[in-house]
Amino acid sequence: MLGNFSYHNPTKLYFGENSIQNLKDELLRYGKNVLFVYGGGSIKKNGIYDDIITILDQCGKNVTEVSGVMPNPTAEKLREGVKTAKEHKTDLILAVGGGSVCDYSKAVSVSVHCDDDPWEKYFARFEEPDCEIVPVGCVLTMAGTGSEMNGGSVITNHEQHLKIGHVFGDEVMPKFSILDPKYTMTLPKYQMCAGIYDIFNHICEQYFSGEDDNTSDYISEGLMRGLIHASRIAVNDPQDYEARSNIMWTATWALNTLISKGKSTDWMVHMLGQAVGAYTDATHGMTLAAVSLPYYRYIMPYGLKKFARFAKEVWCIPADGKTDEQLAAQGLDAMGSWMKEIGLVMNISELGATEDMIEGIADATLILEGGYKLLDRSEIVKILTESMK
Ligand code: NZQ
Ligand code: ZN
Repeated sequence: MLGNFSYHNPTKLYFGENSIQNLKDELLRYGKNVLFVYGGGSIKKNGIYDDIITILDQCGKNVTEVSGVMPNPTAEKLREGVKTAKEHKTDLILAVGGGSVCDYSKAVSVSVHCDDDPWEKYFARFEEPDCEIVPVGCVLTMAGTGSEMNGGSVITNHEQHLKIGHVFGDEVMPKFSILDPKYTMTLPKYQMCAGIYDIFNHICEQYFSGEDDNTSDYISEGLMRGLIHASRIAVNDPQDYEARSNIMWTATWALNTLISKGKSTDWMVHMLGQAVGAYTDATHGMTLAAVSLPYYRYIMPYGLKKFARFAKEVWCIPADGKTDEQLAAQGLDAMGSWMKEIGLVMNISELGATEDMIEGIADATLILEGGYKLLDRSEIVKILTESMK
């Protein structure tokens, strides 16, 4: 049965080529002091930095920059951003980049007017914000995480070997996000493919849970089919605007809270992937790809009907004369072939994980209850060991 829920998403989106033109109107809604947050410099090479600075100047803003936000942003970098935002009395945080920059900006936004250490408060103790929140706006340059229209923020603490996500509420979601598929065209292919798998897995995490006949799962199947189609085109021709724009839009819908409505969700691939990331600092989407098949093959018998439906509806495998076991296994085989075809990393060794890390990665894996099988620690070790191959 579709459960009860409320639905509200406060992020205003501007989608399409030249949608950056809308930035000016948005900026005029906020005060003078803008914290311009970006990553390691890709926006300076591809011209996006210049586009943004021109518009900020036209709006007469006082701009302070926080640059060098790394993929998998760290607690240390977060403290630096909070300090800068406090000193400059920030009215708006403008995040220009991928999920890392956007997640980071949200974490800064809830910490500027707060005296606690941000890592301790939000990522160790999972407290909710109880201080004034600085608004965040986003200009997205990489499709994958859905951070542009959700409250998620993932921060890594290398000293503690932990990578933790906090899903904040409506008040922390970006006030606006600008999504120009052309801005993603300069992404290296490795990052594009990692983003594609991140999107796919966000849908899987919400699909592989529960057996009910609900609208969310039908939407998920459509999103997955569309994404597989677009990914094949984009891998052959990364400059194909239609494919890249479909990928970008699917990323937003894959994790903007819609497809989890009224149903349970899993998220164990993300818990495993994040723990791998805490040890290796590897690219998020690739950590998910590397643990996915061992995990799904392990839990398949416990959610057999759904895995058989996945084979039929997503991979278009005919059911005729097959048992659910056969059909479900063929679905996962088809998924594995597609993953290899688009060039994903299929094991954690390739991401830098070594045998002696397995116990630590297992300790860093949060165990959640929403999936088809509640795992214990020994099963986590088994899946991680399988993911080494
Ligand atoms: O730092 P720069 O120089 O900008 O380079 C970035 C970075 O090296 C580069 N890049 C981005 N746009 C580009 C570009 N290079 C050339 N041209 C462009 N247009 O790509 C690299 C990766 O960027 P990053 O932002 O790290 O990638 P992604 O968007 O995958 O974000 C990953 C982070 O988001 C978290 C992950 O755990 C990870 O920390 N997640 C956030 C979620 C959420 N908010 O809901 C959910 C996800 O499951 C995920 O956990
Ligand atoms: Zn993800």
